[in-house]
Amino acid sequence: MNQQEKIKELLELREKARIGGGPKRIEAQHKKGKLTARERIELLLDEGSFEEFDMFVSHRCIDFGLAEETYLSDGVVTGYGTIDGRIVYVFSQDFTVFGGSLSEMYAAKICKIMDKAMKVGAPIIGINDSGGARIQEGVKSLGGYAEIFQRNIMASGVVPQISAVFGPCAGGAVYSPALTDFILMSKDTSYMFVTGPKVVKTVTGETVTEDQLGGAMIHGAKSGVTHFVADTEQEGIALIRKLLSYMPQNNLEDPPIMPCDDPIDRLEDSLNEIIPDNPSKPYDVKDVIHAVVDYNEFVEVQRHYAPNIVIGFARFNGISVGIVANQPNYLAGVLDINSSRKAARFVRFCDAFNIPVVTFVDVPGFLPGTTQEYGGIIIHGAKLLYAYGEATVPKVTIILRKAYGGAYDVMSSKHLRGDINYAWPGAEIAVMGPKGAIEILYSKQYKEITDLEERMKFLQQKEEEYRRKFTTPYEAAKYGFIDDVIEPRNTRFRIIRALESLRTKKDINPPKKHSNLPL
Ligand code: HXC
Repeated sequence: MNQQEKIKELLELREKARIGGGPKRIEAQHKKGKLTARERIELLLDEGSFEEFDMFVSHRCIDFGLAEETYLSDGVVTGYGTIDGRIVYVFSQDFTVFGGSLSEMYAAKICKIMDKAMKVGAPIIGINDSGGARIQEGVKSLGGYAEIFQRNIMASGVVPQISAVFGPCAGGAVYSPALTDFILMSKDTSYMFVTGPKVVKTVTGETVTEDQLGGAMIHGAKSGVTHFVADTEQEGIALIRKLLSYMPQNNLEDPPIMPCDDPIDRLEDSLNEIIPDNPSKPYDVKDVIHAVVDYNEFVEVQRHYAPNIVIGFARFNGISVGIVANQPNYLAGVLDINSSRKAARFVRFCDAFNIPVVTFVDVPGFLPGTTQEYGGIIIHGAKLLYAYGEATVPKVTIILRKAYGGAYDVMSSKHLRGDINYAWPGAEIAVMGPKGAIEILYSKQYKEITDLEERMKFLQQKEEEYRRKFTTPYEAAKYGFIDDVIEPRNTRFRIIRALESLRTKKDINPPKKHSNLPL
């Protein structure tokens, strides 16, 4: 072969690799409303930035007739490219080749880009669309998965890891996405489960469809496994690009600071009116968040799961922050098992990647009841407490209304190394609400009052006394637990100032092998 022929051969091989399992299977993929592995990468990365590795890899299996059936790239497309000019490493499983199932060589390709991402300190994005372990390869495939898991674990807290699930993701294969920081699933075309409907039927007798067992909305709203549910793959991919803009490349860097024209001293008069006079009336804490952040832009994480707490990313004068907020609009914003777990993991992500945490507090306490106690609210609530107490990133807290009991402590209080803690003038900070407190404090006295009207009067008077003493921010401010009581409409400005003042914050935890957080 002369040089020209060799170049022609290269181009032909490339072309062969690019069509994966062939036009028929590509057509079938499109018919299911799914993009191909390469189309997804093209959408994800900046135009023309993709550098592919290992296009010429194929499997080494000779059993079950596989010696005669090989495909260049072997069912996964890997490499690196840029998103908004910043390097990311990516793998994209190709369902058109053996149903995207994972072989020994396929796993090696993924491990190679994960190792490279770790060396250069760049995020890893995995796009999952696979029938799981390649059955013909047996234990080599299982070993391949574990090699990936090990790398997910080592990369955790070092570089951001994001998983998109745009097709099947079943069996042990689910554990790679589960080990990453964020999971995104596409509606109607993806599912994740440890055991599929057939096994479920055999073992438990339940009849469920794939979607009922592990579809995007099930994991979005019920299990909380997925952080995002996208209507389409295109929407999901755009969201991944956006999400990364809030993150640094790795744990040694700070997140990028974006230019910001939104005035830092923008007064939000609506916030002076937002808290209802009746303390048991709800309002939407997302209105507060949207009002104060840059351009009113808030990327909510786990929107459908445990809506009594709201988490997500936003910016203040270009500074990327993680926001945690109790949601009075749902279960009065109470802390329970799911909301504690949800917020705890988010706070830990932010802390791992140097993203300051801004917390908006309006919490009546922890949810009482046997379901919560039997479910281990003690341990799960402790996770959030632990996450805040362990975090060394700047922490700015605003108490909007209620901060009762243990929940006051948990929600980034001064005592858990909260850096700057503000309260709105209507804040109520106390061991418990007035009604409960009075019943405990004066139970003997009021029972002795036989006249019903007199009893009510007595209770009202005591409640009023309690309210005046404890359900204000000034008692906490008196001890310095609140740094200042601020006018609600000025909240944006005060948070921005607080964050600016904390830019050079240094805080360290004692040296240890690792913590033993209440898992
Ligand atoms: C080899 C596989 C495969 C697999 C699919 N294919 N899964 N080949 N190993 N695991 C092949 C099919 O033979 C077919 O080849 C092509 O991929 C497309 O599959 P279809 O079944 O035609 O597609 P569809 O109807 O869309 O169904 C997709 C599917 C189904 C639901 C994923 O294929 C399926 O149930 N596969 C098996 C899933 C599974 O049990 N995997 C093991 C899980 S345990 P042709 O040549 O016809 O195109 C596991 C352990 C991991 O993964 C452990 C880690 C610790």
